[in-house]
Amino acid sequence: MALWGGRFQGQSSALFQLFNDSLPVDYRLFQQDVEGSIAWADAIASVGILSADECQRLKQALNDLLTEVGEDGNAIIASGAEDIHSFVEQRLIAKVGDLGKKLHTGRSRNDQVATDLKLWCKATVTELQHKLQTLVGALLALCERELDAVMPGYTHLQRAQPVTFGHWCLAYVEMFERDLSRLNDALKRLDTCPLGSGALAGTAYAIDRQKLALSLGFNGPTLNSLDAVSDRDHVVELCSAASLSMLHLSRMAEDLIFFNSGEAAFIELADNVTSGSSLMPQKKNPDALELIRGKTGRVYGNLMGILTTMKALPLAYNKDMQEDKEGLFDTLDSWGICLDMAALVLEGLKVNRGNALTAAQQGYANATELADYLVAKGMPFREAHHVVGELVVKAIGLGLPLEQLPLELLQQSASVIQDDVFPHLSIEACLGKRDVLGGTAINRVQAALKVKQGD
Ligand code: ARG
Repeated sequence: MALWGGRFQGQSSALFQLFNDSLPVDYRLFQQDVEGSIAWADAIASVGILSADECQRLKQALNDLLTEVGEDGNAIIASGAEDIHSFVEQRLIAKVGDLGKKLHTGRSRNDQVATDLKLWCKATVTELQHKLQTLVGALLALCERELDAVMPGYTHLQRAQPVTFGHWCLAYVEMFERDLSRLNDALKRLDTCPLGSGALAGTAYAIDRQKLALSLGFNGPTLNSLDAVSDRDHVVELCSAASLSMLHLSRMAEDLIFFNSGEAAFIELADNVTSGSSLMPQKKNPDALELIRGKTGRVYGNLMGILTTMKALPLAYNKDMQEDKEGLFDTLDSWGICLDMAALVLEGLKVNRGNALTAAQQGYANATELADYLVAKGMPFREAHHVVGELVVKAIGLGLPLEQLPLELLQQSASVIQDDVFPHLSIEACLGKRDVLGGTAINRVQAALKVKQGD
């Protein structure tokens, strides 16, 4: 039976019920709905709606319900209730009879669902924070293992300058740490309790909302009832934080897919995160990384979905807002599993140091060094850039790297070049010169790793 039958003489159609019911999605708020109900029982007992004994019996029944149902989502859905709030109330009434019908005094599903969802978000954000920290830990461990492995760094996907693999790892550490701080920010803002806002105008009972909020573990109560029941900013913020983090995960996945390709072969992915082809026996496909990249799309889609759903909704609650949960759950589930998966991929990843170094030595990644050498000999940088560009063309013609060009040939382009040029063109010199805060010189990467490990 629905919670609202009295006003109606006709039955709702089966199609309408299917369309309107949210239990198949919001069953996930079961624990939060019971928690909120226990706190609400205390609140209305404090203003005399329930006697101390009634309050105790209700709370006992709610706790029993929690253990009986546990994590069994299927059992909840099978009840056929309209939504999770109806499910809990119906089960409560089945347990304690008419007393169960008192619990909804002064409460609306509008403040209830807003409270449940915020409680759920808080718990889930804590899990995601741990997952992000684990991923950062996996990147730091990989950085430590492969700190001084050398590979080409790219711009425009053209070999640009050599970098260390450790430096690449720490680039993603920066991104995931920003994601973590975004989650922390979102958590601060969502940590207010809507319960006691009623349907929209505030409950008619003189409950202590501050005490109620604290009893549920919130930082404090929301301050405007119209806003409290119709605010889904936190859903948008979490979808947005997830989207940006998925963008980072997707870029990392793309880098690794490329590094793992036959063309680059800088790394090898472990068997436990790759799959084979049904046709081509030689294949070892980077499925885990491709799925991370792929799932980014649906997470963006969910962000657009909730932004669009909320746009132009009049105050206060509207049923449109029931659409908030499916996208949010999918977003945070997808983000969570991608974070776990990425950590697992990094754990088993091996760097083929030889291939990566060879690639770094090819592609004229030391051309900037030669220009800098000319600058040190007094040539203006723009001119040096041009001279080196011409030398690169000559070197390509001869099929040689810059450091193997004969000195006479170098001198034809720039007479200031002496044989002290060659040490400047080595990989070690290229890396060693990037000895600046945030640079790829090995000592800088070591220092940066130490700082992160100390965090
Ligand atoms: N299932 C609803 C939701 O998720 C709960 C709130 C319903 N409120 C109402 N006035 N019908 O939004």
